[in-house]
Amino acid sequence: MATFDTFAANYQELVTENIRITGETSDYFAAYKARYIARKIALPQGSRILDYGCGVGLLAEHLMKVLPGGQVDGFDVSKESIGRVSEHLRVQGTFTTNLDALERTYELIVLSNVLHHVTPVDRQDLIREAGSRLALGGKLVIFEHNPINPLTRWVVSQCPFDEDAILLPNGETRGYFRRGELQLLWRDYIVFFPRWVKWLRPFEPFLQWCPVGAQYAVVAHRVL
Ligand SMILES: C[S@@+](CC[C@H](N)C(=O)[O-])C[C@H]1O[C@@H](n2cnc3c(N)ncnc32)[C@H](O)[C@@H]1O
Repeated sequence: MATFDTFAANYQELVTENIRITGETSDYFAAYKARYIARKIALPQGSRILDYGCGVGLLAEHLMKVLPGGQVDGFDVSKESIGRVSEHLRVQGTFTTNLDALERTYELIVLSNVLHHVTPVDRQDLIREAGSRLALGGKLVIFEHNPINPLTRWVVSQCPFDEDAILLPNGETRGYFRRGELQLLWRDYIVFFPRWVKWLRPFEPFLQWCPVGAQYAVVAHRVL
């Protein structure tokens, strides 16, 4: 498996270069996901959020902005990536490679583009582990590349840190919530229009049913 330690120093630039065809930067996609969460999930004031597989903290930065008054923590297996998380994220939360340093009472846990880097046999266990850190009723949001979209598949095939990637159809991701403590709530397709037709983007929330989105979100909650 590729290790993100090798890519941590220029992760943001690599993502931006890789998605150049969309006319957007890595920051656009991180902000998009944070706004999606803010729009779809009502979180109590002062909520605790865990960005699981946070990398260098791109999404965590935006979660902090759209969900003020809360605490954003981050976990990643890549030491180099965690070492590059910004100081202002660190002063408000814990960013670590050590799961034992984290809580078990999060209102929200986000796994953004992590699972396709995890071997299929290990995915259920990782989701169970992440879910066990939710408070009762807490939500788990999984963002993944949509393998049905040919442009997504092409972008992944060109990306240096996606050499190990095995994409998951959304049916596989939803299947991880058939039994146990986590129950599936919904699945949305997201990210439809490149920058050159950005005037169409206000329609994206109405297209969440449409399987050609570049990515998808699967949302579950803890019931036991
Ligand atoms: C494509 S990056 C995504 C980073 C960030 N979530 C984002 O959306 O920008 C995938 C991240 O998942 C991390 N990762 C891979 N396997 C992991 C695991 N088993 N547990 C936690 N993080 C993992 C990698 O180290 C890497 O930082």
